[in-house]
Amino acid sequence: VHLGASICLERGSLASIQDRLPACSQAVYVGNTGITLPVRVHLQASGESCKTVQEAVRFWDELDRMGCDRQACLVAIGGGALCDLAGFVASTYLRGISLVLVPTTLLAMVDAAIGGKNGLNGLRGKNRIGTTYLPKLTLIDPTLLTTLPDRQWTSGFAEVIKCAVLTGEESIGWLESHCEQLQLREPAAVDRAIEGAIATKVMRVEADLLDRTGYRAQLNFGHTLGHAIESLDRSVTHGEAVAIGMNFEARLAYSLGMVSSSWCERLDRLLQAFHLPIQLPAGLEPEQLLAKMMFDKKNSSNQLRLLLPSQWGTVELLPVEPAQLLQTMKLMI
Ligand SMILES: NC(=O)c1ccc[n+]([C@@H]2O[C@H](COP(=O)([O-])OP(=O)(O)OC[C@H]3O[C@@H](n4cnc5c(N)ncnc54)[C@H](O)[C@@H]3O)[C@@H](O)[C@H]2O)c1
Repeated sequence: VHLGASICLERGSLASIQDRLPACSQAVYVGNTGITLPVRVHLQASGESCKTVQEAVRFWDELDRMGCDRQACLVAIGGGALCDLAGFVASTYLRGISLVLVPTTLLAMVDAAIGGKNGLNGLRGKNRIGTTYLPKLTLIDPTLLTTLPDRQWTSGFAEVIKCAVLTGEESIGWLESHCEQLQLREPAAVDRAIEGAIATKVMRVEADLLDRTGYRAQLNFGHTLGHAIESLDRSVTHGEAVAIGMNFEARLAYSLGMVSSSWCERLDRLLQAFHLPIQLPAGLEPEQLLAKMMFDKKNSSNQLRLLLPSQWGTVELLPVEPAQLLQTMKLMI
């Protein structure tokens, strides 16, 4: 897999979206009302509540009504949730039509629109229904981020920080020293942060597209507890949940002697510098969260497996006893 050519990061690029599409019989645009777009949107959806089979049915039916054939192209302009829904619909409609993703949140630019995974939420938790289906093009236009609310902006940095943890100490240092510029949304710093996070993800996706060797699974750092939090408390954003999940896995690694307390503190300081939460949200019980984590896709033979850091740039998927998880969560209330 070579993703390089299919990802374009360019300020202002959305304006010429129509000239950039792959050859197709018909372009179907899906998006949400909030953003001014240069094209007419045929289908609207956004936010976590759109990641359902019912919404997928609505999309398939509309593609039928519009008379789409296998050469049609679905173009999704929106946040990670819409990208996930559109990716699933494009991969299944007529056994697969072209897909173009135009992420409009920071989180979707650095993560959800990269790597071909899509997902709908199921009875037992997040992203349980989905496929791996690469878009023909991911068009990243950071000027779209100007309208992003602060909370969503902050949320995206959880994935940026996660990528820095996976990449190494130099990336952590860069984020620490550019925190202010990034909060002020200074274009040069923002573009570099996006580019760096994408590079981290692309490397793992290209080497392990189908998530079989454990290399791509590293991108799940922070997500085991993160997904459990998100499915129990809809008021927490994906990035916030991942931030809490990273603190959790760092603390677990500390309790197992894998990292020092100063390693954990440095990660926590960075998360907090970006205004991300690190404690469990009020009202969630560790036992409830543990029960959700039992359904995590990384588990094998009913054994919980988590991504634990051992140094900047290294996380390992390791089995952890439920009692240890409970004990660590109790320290985060
Ligand atoms: N497939 C993957 O590899 C992958 C990776 C990471 C996350 N995800 C998924 O992505 C989702 C989270 O994505 P998200 O954080 O983008 O949230 P989101 O898609 O729910 O969007 C958040 C909110 O921001 C609004 N919005 C989007 N762009 C905007 C803009 N430019 N200006 C103003 N408002 C805007 C949306 O309408 C929505 O209300 C989760 O469902 C998560 O599971 C998928």
